[in-house]
Amino acid sequence: MAATNGKFYVTTPIYYVNDTPHIGHTYTSVAADTLARYHRCRGEDVFYLTGTDENSQKNVEAAEKAGYQDIQSYLDMMSGKWRSVFSELGLTFDDFIRTTEERHKKAVDKFWRAVKANNPDDIYLGEYVGLYCVGCEAFVNRSDLVDGKCPIHKKEPKAIKEKNYFFRLSAYRQKLLAHIDSHPEFIQPEARRNEVRSYIDKFMEDVSISRETMKWGIPVPDDPKNVIYVWFDALINYLSGIGYGTDEARFRRLWPADVHLVGKDIIKFHCALWPAMLMAAGVELPRQVFAHGFFTVDGDKMSKSLGNVVDPLVVAGKYGMDTLRFFLLREIPFGGDGDFSMKRLAERYANDLANDLGNLLHRVLSMTEKYYEGKVPSDGGGCPDAPKDQEEAWQTYDKAMAVLDFAAVLDLIWEHLRWDNKHIDEVKPWVLVKNDRKELDKVIYYLLEHLRHVAWMLKPVMPVVAEKMFDQLGIAAGEAKKTWDEARAWGGMRENATISKGMPLFPRLEDK
Ligand code: MSP
Repeated sequence: MAATNGKFYVTTPIYYVNDTPHIGHTYTSVAADTLARYHRCRGEDVFYLTGTDENSQKNVEAAEKAGYQDIQSYLDMMSGKWRSVFSELGLTFDDFIRTTEERHKKAVDKFWRAVKANNPDDIYLGEYVGLYCVGCEAFVNRSDLVDGKCPIHKKEPKAIKEKNYFFRLSAYRQKLLAHIDSHPEFIQPEARRNEVRSYIDKFMEDVSISRETMKWGIPVPDDPKNVIYVWFDALINYLSGIGYGTDEARFRRLWPADVHLVGKDIIKFHCALWPAMLMAAGVELPRQVFAHGFFTVDGDKMSKSLGNVVDPLVVAGKYGMDTLRFFLLREIPFGGDGDFSMKRLAERYANDLANDLGNLLHRVLSMTEKYYEGKVPSDGGGCPDAPKDQEEAWQTYDKAMAVLDFAAVLDLIWEHLRWDNKHIDEVKPWVLVKNDRKELDKVIYYLLEHLRHVAWMLKPVMPVVAEKMFDQLGIAAGEAKKTWDEARAWGGMRENATISKGMPLFPRLEDK
């Protein structure tokens, strides 16, 4: 998604804190972080919001199970953990919103009142009689159940009969369909759009947005014995996190969100309920909701009972966070489903990273040391096609980033790395050094300059590796000052600059 007016606002879902982050949550956050870094490279005013969803019954049950009498102190402890894991993973979020914060409560209050003021009939009192799955935090139909249980959480839903406030979602059916049809970019990928469209068209009904029997949550304005349904409150985080109700100037600068990244499991909340809520409150809609797929671990659903839940800190500790980022974005097509396997990760580490990228850099720097005493040669008259080819590569790169096709971004880079490796084998610099110095200058300059471009292309996905590449190419200080256009222009490596070959980028793990 391109930026609006030079700003780029990206969000992740806010996470439930009944457990610590696993690799599935890390996936959404890594994608958001990559986008945020890419748009920062472009010089845009980027805002990346993440946070924790705290008014959920799941959290309350987890707190009680953990022996906490004071729910808030459990939430403080767990939310702190999420935040510190995300920081440890190097994620560059600009704010971390918690739905138990005062600023969020104020925003929710303002939003509810805005809906009532704009459309007095859109929130009405009714009686809810039906089933509720705490795992999904959603009302479920009997027809959704398998053997009387929720097919996802394998638990019997609770039977509920209580007075609730309802949101007149059905009144927005035609408006939502019209918006989806006239904004094909609103729901991505396309398969998800069709799924949501048919849900809105055929199944969407009014939704209960308060609970009478629950104690934990944000009170309904003017009727504080009821608390607001967790999804109605949680979605508003995308507004409260940028100042709605507390800092209107900041809110106006950043809203609408350029992209909400979500997993496919929560697409209906984001593409039906959320836009309808915004329409009701008179707030502009986000520009895009992009739903990624789910992945299994070694072919199985990730679950505590199977004992196959992957801890991102363990993987990052062994292979480095950049390897984990690379693997998640390269292995699982963004928008589709996939599988996570440590065996595949080890293979990609050895082949794609250590071999194709690490060895190439090492080879080129070694030749620069050996043939040029570690100084960048002249470009030997240059390769006439190089600037044009590189410019085309950048255009392909931008197009792939604009549609969040991270695998295509990485494929493009690796196609180039493999070409470079093959090129070295074909032109044989070790022969050129004896009989064609000028041609050797050309080859080595080309490779060094090309690696500089590769480092820039990798920067949003593998920020630590990119920095190490700049260091070893001896250009870290200079590159840090460049604008995006300067960085992408051919010829950035300066003749006679000194390289600084270091340790291999991806050491063999036995050596670690
Ligand atoms: N709290 C809600 C979101 C509210 S947003 C207003 C929620 N939280 S969650 O913690 O359960 O999930 C957050 C995200 O993690 C979801 O987008 C979900 O898709 C993602 N993932 C959880 N497990 C996953 C996989 N196994 N694979 C890929 N993504 C997964 O839902």
